Amino acid sequence: MKTSRLTVDLNLATSMQLGPSGLAMSQFTSLAPKAIESHDALTTAHKTGKLGFMALPDDHAAKDAAKAIAKELQGAFDDQLVLGIGGSSLGAKALVTSLCHPFHNLLSKEKRGAGLRTFFPDNSDGTTFARLLELVDLGKAGIVAITKSGGTAETWAQLLYLQEKLGAAAMKKQVVAVTDPAKGALRSVATAQGWRTLPVPPNIGGRFSVFTAVGLLPAAAAGVDVDQLLAGASSMVRRCGSYQLFDNPAYLLGSALYLFDRERGRPVHVFMPYADALRETGDWFVQLWAESLGKKNHGPTPIGAVGATDQHSLLQLLMEGPNDKVTIFVAVEEPRVDLSIPKGFEDQPDVKYLNGITFNTLLAAEQRATAAALAAAGRPSITITLPRLDAFALGELMMLLEIATGFAGPLYGVDPYDQPGVEAGKRYACGLLGRPGYEDAAAELNKRPKADAAWVV
Ligand code: PA5
Repeated sequence: MKTSRLTVDLNLATSMQLGPSGLAMSQFTSLAPKAIESHDALTTAHKTGKLGFMALPDDHAAKDAAKAIAKELQGAFDDQLVLGIGGSSLGAKALVTSLCHPFHNLLSKEKRGAGLRTFFPDNSDGTTFARLLELVDLGKAGIVAITKSGGTAETWAQLLYLQEKLGAAAMKKQVVAVTDPAKGALRSVATAQGWRTLPVPPNIGGRFSVFTAVGLLPAAAAGVDVDQLLAGASSMVRRCGSYQLFDNPAYLLGSALYLFDRERGRPVHVFMPYADALRETGDWFVQLWAESLGKKNHGPTPIGAVGATDQHSLLQLLMEGPNDKVTIFVAVEEPRVDLSIPKGFEDQPDVKYLNGITFNTLLAAEQRATAAALAAAGRPSITITLPRLDAFALGELMMLLEIATGFAGPLYGVDPYDQPGVEAGKRYACGLLGRPGYEDAAAELNKRPKADAAWVV
């Protein structure tokens, strides 16, 4: 079995490197009692089964069930439409985009192998959905409908549209519903219509569900090696067993970001992988960090970026804008493909220094240089390094970030697994749309001060 290889490097976050804007060892020492409480809360919830995400990598039955249905979909279809939003979309999208060919959906069938073309319409934006349906031969598409609660409006809008277009008999062949094992509208409809189903365990929240069928089914159907993904996640769970911050990479990361926010005035956390393939993993992290910790008028503000691209847009702000940020770099040591930059135009000093190096040498130097430039300006960064970007390493990374989030919740004094603010918005939307049972929400909205034309130009 592979062992854990990912590293979390705090050097450029320390007071030794940065002076007073960095973190001192004494801050971690002072945090220890709180950290032990947080560790106890997390491990007790994990061991009693109240909290399920850390047990998922070893749930081989759930993985095998997802793989079996993925194989059926691969045998029957060319494409899959993954309907879902938020935690029911971002994780699967991160897996597929991080691990498949960057232009997976444009590859020929021979080059793609068994992996299905995979689309995530996600939003209830009719233009995207309509244009997607113009591209896809609907009769040859598997439909993976994912909603843990079973009642999410955006997902149902798409599902109702497809039901109308395809009819019940085709839907029965094409849909797999991923939802709560017992409750909710999708469970009821799936049972009544005879749709295949996979469960989302009740002790797993949406944004912590990437290692359930929510992530595994679409990823496996697209051709991702979910065995290696879970092996990496499992290795990270084992590596994060200690309550000692410096023996536990997730706790160290979670506590450093917490300390930067609460004790160094740095609530803005920029997640910046130097790999295009990790862009959507950044989107997934942004949701995880924001929705889990942004509560009770506190919490960090995560921002997703990609290096080196965002050196040409965000970096000026990171270097000289408000001094309230910490950057989390993700570096990948060994690229899947590297290209030598050929010699040419050697009379041009602006070009010559590139002659003979590789694309990856350039990208890696840019990451290190950006971290050093930030440090020279007294601005901290943390670097997570993956030896290579494969399924094992992505499993490690995503589990690292989930445990860091579960650990940071109690440090902030919030429940990282709920989302009362999101529920409030959903309630108002149901009130606006006249959903029975939401009359009080509609009445509350009606009592809001009326808009004044003077403020509209
Ligand atoms: O993380 C969460 O809990 C949310 O982002 C949900 O995943 C999102 O609202 C979708 O919910 P559901 O899976 O019930 O459709």
